[in-house]
Amino acid sequence: MKPCVFVSVILLIVSLAPVIHGEGRTLNIIYTGGINGKLEPCGCSSKTDFGGIARLSGYLIEHQKDISPYLLIDAGNFSDKDTPQGRLKGEAMLTAYKIMKYDAVSFLKNEKTFQNDFFSPLLEELNVPVISDAPQYIKSFSVKRNNVYVNISIGPEGHQKSELNILLTDLPVSESKLIEGWDIIITSSGEILNEPLRANGTVIVAGYPKAENLGILVLQIDGKGKISDFKHRWQPLVNTIKEDAEVRNILNDYDSKVAGLLKEAEKPPAGTTYLGVAKCAECHQLFEESWEKTRHADAFSSLEHAGKSNDPECIICHVVGFGEDGGFYSINTTPELANVQCEECHGLDREHIEDVSRPMKPVIKNVCLKCHTKENSPDFDYPVYLKKVAH
Ligand code: HEC
Ligand code: HEC
Ligand code: HEC
Ligand code: HEC
Repeated sequence: MKPCVFVSVILLIVSLAPVIHGEGRTLNIIYTGGINGKLEPCGCSSKTDFGGIARLSGYLIEHQKDISPYLLIDAGNFSDKDTPQGRLKGEAMLTAYKIMKYDAVSFLKNEKTFQNDFFSPLLEELNVPVISDAPQYIKSFSVKRNNVYVNISIGPEGHQKSELNILLTDLPVSESKLIEGWDIIITSSGEILNEPLRANGTVIVAGYPKAENLGILVLQIDGKGKISDFKHRWQPLVNTIKEDAEVRNILNDYDSKVAGLLKEAEKPPAGTTYLGVAKCAECHQLFEESWEKTRHADAFSSLEHAGKSNDPECIICHVVGFGEDGGFYSINTTPELANVQCEECHGLDREHIEDVSRPMKPVIKNVCLKCHTKENSPDFDYPVYLKKVAH
């Protein structure tokens, strides 16, 4: 045996030592928390294009080998509030959790806004393991993974002395630090904790807001089933991750149900408030022509390409006067008010037509910021953007 080969064999034996003694085990805790009904990113900007449950599922499928053995846990606030669209999101989230085989999901603040009986029939059908302190649910349960007994619980009653105990909460980190007796606390408080925090022997982590990053906590487990060491990393859910087609179907189904909400809703009074670009163009043709060249004039087709042209959460910034009487309602009922038109910036002033000397409301930066938010337009820089839409 050549010396270098000999040395590497020795090194190999040394590095395998804990495994040979049969004590060291690994267990990965893959966690989310605080998704808040964000099923997928809006695609408004590549800089904020992170997250989405179809990517999350796609990541798990593609990396099954590297991340096993693992427990997949959601620390709550995965849903939005109890509204017609919020209900559809809740349904889509739980269906996706079923597909991804979540090991535990907790119901916290957001889920508790839902009427008591909303989730029950869904859960009966889907069999997603939920813990909650609401009366009809269990508060904790144990799972065994890679020979480690793990108890997952919503509150102190569920604590099991002989097991690895994980508490799911939405208390802020500052309060979680004061809770004793848990090996791990996962919070869905919405805070960003770049690194896990250690307090009272507990490892505290926080689900990344809207699951833009997937949390991966790699545990080394000792002979007594307790944590001897851990590492943590964030897996960014970027657009190069191949989406899981099955979860994508859930999202498409969600989109068509959202469109259904729009059709079911009562049609508002015929558009009489906003005039639309055609009216302004009668006297301001040159302005109309230069507006046509801006992306504002095509804003609605961006939604159509994304399959989101009937989603109120998207429409609001891509049309005129959505949600107001006489504003955009749907592309079939009010096509003349699609896109970001003149009146979104210059304001609503029908009297200007009768008396053209009446000055319109000045266009100031705040007008833009209504739509150009940090999340939807991270590159927004007023002078630069203003130049691009000047006419
Ligand atoms: C009947 C013709 C007519 C129509 C229709 C019309 N405008 Fe005007 N508008 C004018 C004229 C004329 C002026 C110039 C008034 C002046 O300089 O005293 C003007 C001025 C303006 C100004 C700049 C003046 C200021 O002080 O703010 C804006 C902005 C404007 N119009 C926007 C609009 C928008 C938006 C619409 C559609 C909702 C519209 N106009 C429809 C005729 C019209
Ligand atoms: C009602 C919402 C809304 C308002 C108000 C609004 N925008 Fe926009 N803006 C959008 C949307 C939506 C897009 C993207 C259109 C698309 O491509 O689908 C956009 C795109 C743009 C773009 C193109 C960005 C690029 O990189 O080419 C510029 C520039 C812009 N807006 C400037 C402004 C400025 C300046 C204001 C204020 C004076 C403003 N916008 C007000 C919604 C709005
Ligand atoms: C708060 C306002 C707002 C909401 C809500 C919103 N958008 Fe946008 N969207 C914008 C703005 C502003 C831009 C332009 C961003 C820029 O270029 O700086 C934009 C751009 C886009 C683009 C063009 C991206 C490109 O580079 O061509 C798409 C597609 C889009 N949005 C889709 C959506 C979808 C889908 C939703 C709903 C899930 C949505 N938007 C919700 C404001 C919004
Ligand atoms: C993205 C926002 C935005 C949109 C959309 C927009 N404008 Fe403007 N418009 C401005 C800004 C900013 C100015 C600069 C003057 C000011 O501060 O009011 C301006 C100026 C004007 C002026 C007055 C120019 C002057 O002499 O002072 C007219 C008229 C006008 N716009 C008409 C229109 C018409 C018509 C449309 C639709 C076809 C339109 N604008 C769409 C932002 C917008």
